[in-house]
Amino acid sequence: MNVLGIESSCDETGVALVESVGQGTPALLAHALHTQIDMHQAYGGVVPELASRDHIRRVVPLVRQVMASAGRSLADIDVVAYTQGPGLAGALLVGAGVACALAASLGKPTLAIHHLEGHLLSPFLSADPPSFPFVALLVSGGHTQLMRVDGVAQYELLGETIDDAAGEAFDKSAKLMGLGYPGGPALARLAEFGDPAAFDLPRPLLHSGNLDFSFAGLKTAVRTRLGKLGANVCQQDLAHLAASTQQAIVDVLVRKSVAALRDTGLDRLVVAGGVGANAALRSQLNEACRRRGARVHYPELALCTDNGAMIALAAALRLQSGAQAASDDYAFTVRPRWPLAEVVRASA
Ligand code: KG4
Ligand code: ZN
Repeated sequence: MNVLGIESSCDETGVALVESVGQGTPALLAHALHTQIDMHQAYGGVVPELASRDHIRRVVPLVRQVMASAGRSLADIDVVAYTQGPGLAGALLVGAGVACALAASLGKPTLAIHHLEGHLLSPFLSADPPSFPFVALLVSGGHTQLMRVDGVAQYELLGETIDDAAGEAFDKSAKLMGLGYPGGPALARLAEFGDPAAFDLPRPLLHSGNLDFSFAGLKTAVRTRLGKLGANVCQQDLAHLAASTQQAIVDVLVRKSVAALRDTGLDRLVVAGGVGANAALRSQLNEACRRRGARVHYPELALCTDNGAMIALAAALRLQSGAQAASDDYAFTVRPRWPLAEVVRASA
């Protein structure tokens, strides 16, 4: 069965084709991505209306590109999956509209997918896929959550951020430092030249005794530090501040992930979402888990940030597991706000 996946929830248009045979791990046949980073850079963040218009321009050529590189024709598609939410309403509507129109024209069913479930399952496309059950650390621009995952559509929320997401903390701190958008990778690059212990920044909720996060105070602390450093802050101090900010975020993520492993008694951690691309987070999580005898799984680096492959994969896995049936109703809605807990299996 060939599943086409379309992702358009934010500032990346992603399209992919996966092939699923029986209960085997679906194989990625081809994927293509267009990132809008250059377009939004001038504004310091995502402009929703521009994002929607660009998705419209990109999505059909990307579908053509994916089908060509997979060596398949449109007639070979069995199901068209798309991101139904959460995300920007206008951006989601483009992917959902194109997916449903394409499926209707081919006489094939559709499947609506939760963006975070895509991230959560994306390590199954890596060379070293995890097995259930595991703890998942979901760290993206909009979400920071720890979940217990017992199977496809069997997710239990263990803890989440009460304010900013980890990616938001990176992005907002980077913006304060004048590093542009998206801030996470820019801040991480600058952090390589700084000392992570140079500035003592807050680690909110580090000792809260639960698995919740809070990052809003960090951004305020960065603003205060920058104020003290003054308008003529030197590049070295900026690098120290970037490294210290990154370390504050990584410390909390590592500590809480280890606590989640301890609380659940599980010995596998899956890290997904854009912040999962962060090298400092990866090396410190690897080290903390190695000490516990736990294993960590990541998606391939290229599939950490938004992409169509994770949407096609999540659809294929939901179909395989019987968690969701494909729909022949081409009327569609999008869900800009949509808790992941709502996609769990009724029996979970
Ligand atoms: O999952 P994603 O692509 O989109 C959302 O669903 O939000 O995550 C984007 C987030 C942004 O906040 C971006 O700054 C952050 O992931 N990010 C990083 C890195 N690469 C992306 N943060 C820190 N270090 C990175 N290397
Ligand atoms: Zn995402």
